[in-house]
Amino acid sequence: MENGNLSYTHKNYLIETIDRLAMHKMNVLHLHLVDDQGWRMEIKKYPKLTEVGAFRVDQENIIWSARLPVSSLDKGTYGGYLTQEDLKELVKYAQLKNVEIIPEIEMPAHVSSAIASYPELSCFEDPIGVPSGSVWPITDIYCAGKESTFEFLENVLDEVIDVFPSRYIHIGGDEATKINWEKCPNCQKRMRTENLKNPHELQSYFVKRIEKYINSKGKKLVGWDEILEGGLAPDATVMSWRGVKGGIEAAKQGHDVVMTPNTHCYFDHHQGHQNEEPLAIGGYTPISKVYEFDPIIDSMTVAETKHILGGQANLWAEYIPNNSQSEYMIYPRLAAMAEVLWSPKELRDWNDFSSRITTMFERYKELDINYAKSIYLVNPTTEVDLDKKEVYLSLINEFSNSDIRYVLGNQNINENAIKYTKPLGFKETTIVKASLFKNNKPIGKIFLDTIKFHNAVACKVNYISPYDDNYKGAEALGLVNLIRGTKNHHDGQWQAWLKKDMEVIIDLENEKTIKEVTMGSIENQGRNIYFPNTIEVYASTDGVNYTKIAKTEHFFAINPISELKDFKMSFEKTTARFLKISATNIKTTPKGTDAWLFVDEILVN
Ligand code: ACM
Ligand code: ZN
Repeated sequence: MENGNLSYTHKNYLIETIDRLAMHKMNVLHLHLVDDQGWRMEIKKYPKLTEVGAFRVDQENIIWSARLPVSSLDKGTYGGYLTQEDLKELVKYAQLKNVEIIPEIEMPAHVSSAIASYPELSCFEDPIGVPSGSVWPITDIYCAGKESTFEFLENVLDEVIDVFPSRYIHIGGDEATKINWEKCPNCQKRMRTENLKNPHELQSYFVKRIEKYINSKGKKLVGWDEILEGGLAPDATVMSWRGVKGGIEAAKQGHDVVMTPNTHCYFDHHQGHQNEEPLAIGGYTPISKVYEFDPIIDSMTVAETKHILGGQANLWAEYIPNNSQSEYMIYPRLAAMAEVLWSPKELRDWNDFSSRITTMFERYKELDINYAKSIYLVNPTTEVDLDKKEVYLSLINEFSNSDIRYVLGNQNINENAIKYTKPLGFKETTIVKASLFKNNKPIGKIFLDTIKFHNAVACKVNYISPYDDNYKGAEALGLVNLIRGTKNHHDGQWQAWLKKDMEVIIDLENEKTIKEVTMGSIENQGRNIYFPNTIEVYASTDGVNYTKIAKTEHFFAINPISELKDFKMSFEKTTARFLKISATNIKTTPKGTDAWLFVDEILVN
C-alpha cells in the first residue's frame, strides 16, 4: 500500500495485475481483504470496519515486526480500502479477462482490525488499536460463543456475496491462538452445549456454521489448512499452505484442495542471495524452486488427485512498501508457477524454461513491470581449510551450464574476465568480482566480495560470555574462521548473545604487532537483532594484565533495512599476545523484547 489515495492507486494496480494474470494464463485472483493490520473492503452495515479498521498508526519507517504496540486511543492515519463500487468494477474487469476474483474474509483470527472497530466481537471486549505491524501470537480473535458474532459475520458475508459472484468464499481460518476461548464464559458455554471437547472443535463448529450459511447462498467455502483441525466442514475446500500435508489429508477425506505450500509458493520470500535482495520476511524461494512445484503428490491415488483443483502463489505484503516492490516479488516467479500448473510433469524442463524466460523479460520491460533479475545473480559459497589457512570460493547461478567469469583485485569486469570453472582458492586478502555472461557480455548484477585475511585466523578463542545455543556459528573457531556471515542470520556463521554482552579473549599464539581490530555484526530490527552499543579492545602480553587500546560506539537508530557492518577500530601499533574484545548488547528493544547481538568474525590486523 502506498500513501495518498489508496483506493485509487490500489485499484489501478489491481487492474494491471488482472491483465498480467491473464497474460500468464492464471485464472483466479484470491484477494485477502481482511487482516489484523487493515480491513480493506467497505461494508455498509458496519462503517467503522473501514473508518477505524482500515487505518493504522503510521510506523512505516520501522521494520514490520519491530513496530511498537498501539492502543485504541491512537489514531490511525496510514491505510485505505476499496469501496464496493471499486470492487464491483474489478470483478467486472476480471470477468472480461477470464479471471475469477475470490474474496477472503478472515475468521476467527487475523481480525484485530475488526475488533479495533467493534470490540464487542471479541471474548472480553477490551478496546484495542489496529496494530501497525506484526501480531504474534494472534489472541484477539472473534468470540465463538456469542450469537452476535455470527450475526455480524452473516451480515458481512451478505455484502461480500453481493459484490463477488465467485463460486467460492474464502474464510481464512489460519493461525488462531485460542487462549481466550478457553477462558471466555460464552465460548465455554458453547463448548458444553455443542459437546465440543477442545478449542479446535470449537473452531470446527465455527467454520461448519459459516459453511452452512455460505452454502445456503449457493457458494462454497474455502479455508486455510487449519480448518482440518477439530474436523472439516462437510463440503469445505482446503488451501494447503503449511506444506502439502494438509492438502494430502483433505484429499484423502474426499475434499477439494488448492495447493500453495510455503516451500514453493510464497512469493514474499527472497528469490536470490539475501545480501543482494531487498528486505523480505525470510525464506528462500528462487524461481528454479518455484519451477519444482507440483500440486500433485506422487503418493496420491488417482481418486485423490482428482480433488486437487490447482495451485496458487501467495504474495503477503508485510514487507512490500509499494507496487513496484510488489511487481518485483511476483515477476518472473509467476511465469514459472503458470508453466508448472499448465504443463504435464513430463514436459516440464527447467533448462528449457530458463532459456525462454528471457523472452518474458522483454515483455515485462515493454509493459514497464519492475521484474526481478535475481536469476542472473552469481551466488557464492565459501569453504575454508583452517590448517592451510586457505579460503575456497564457489560461484554458481540458477542457469545450468552458466558462463560465469571473474576478475581479481581492482580490475573491471569485461570480456577479458576469466571463465570460472572450479572453486577459487585464496591465501591473502583479495577482491573478487564476478558476473554471469551472455554472448560475451556481462549481464545482471556484478558480484563483489572481499575475502579478508587477518592475524587471528584459527587462533584459540576463549568465551568469557558464551554464545547462545541457537546461534553457535562454526563453534570454537567461528569468530576467526574467515567465513563471513550473510544477511541470512540462520546461515550457520553467526554467533549470538541474547540480552547479554559478548566478551571473548583471542590468543594470538605468540606476540604480534597489531594496529586494527574489526568486528563484523548484523542489524535486523525486525528479528530483534541490534548492533552493539560499545565495542572495546584490550591488549595483553601475559594474559593477566590488560590495557584498553580501542573503543568504538554505535548510537541506536531506527534502521528500516537488514544491514551488515564491520566495526573497525584502528590504534597505535601495539604488541600483543592476547586480545580481550567486549561488545555490549542493547539488551532491550524499543518494543520491550530481549535484544540479540550477532557477531560473525573478529579480524585482527
Ligand atoms: C498463511 O500464510 N497464514 C496462510
Ligand atoms: Zn468467547
